[in-house]
Amino acid sequence: MKNTDIEKVILSAETIRSRILEIAEEINQHYQDRVREIILITLLDGAIVFTADLIRHLSVPLRLDCIRVSSYGDSTNPETAPRILGSLKSDVRERHVLLVDDILDTGNTMQKVVSEVSAKKPASLKTCVFLNKPERRQNNFQADWSGFNIPDEFVVGYGLDYAGRYRELPYLGTLMPSIYTQTL
Ligand code: IMP
Ligand code: MG
Repeated sequence: MKNTDIEKVILSAETIRSRILEIAEEINQHYQDRVREIILITLLDGAIVFTADLIRHLSVPLRLDCIRVSSYGDSTNPETAPRILGSLKSDVRERHVLLVDDILDTGNTMQKVVSEVSAKKPASLKTCVFLNKPERRQNNFQADWSGFNIPDEFVVGYGLDYAGRYRELPYLGTLMPSIYTQTL
């Protein structure tokens, strides 16, 4: 049943599931016979749900790592200068790295993470995002794999949050306007 705070469902759980199978297949084909292992770096917290579902369909052996990047806080406007909090546990030098994030919005987060990880000289670096909001881009960053293009609307569910909430919803949706005016 739909959460009553949700105004409309944009992507159903079933739609998400079938697209993930397609992306996983593309990623498998890309790495097949080319690499022994990849280091998959997931961007906390938003990409947790997407990553968990995606990796269970990957056939390329992987090691999982994560980075946390400073986020929206409780508003719906991104910080323009994301900061990377904490550090990676793996040494990515000469390794094949796949970065996974929930959404490519302004593109600032991915650009920042890509430049930091590239500086560590990986053998290759690819990016995969669950969602893409092309209208919001502030740079020319493009992901190698992207699940869905969505319009410029704030969305929650399937890992994406508003003020830390709604990440657990199995679908993606928009919030009732009243939610934004409530005291948190
Ligand atoms: P960026 O603007 O591309 O740097 O994206 C920054 C981060 O903002 C993403 O990783 C998400 O965590 C968050 N974000 C962007 N758009 C949305 C949205 O519509 N809902 C929830 N989080 C979002
Ligand atoms: Mg995020």
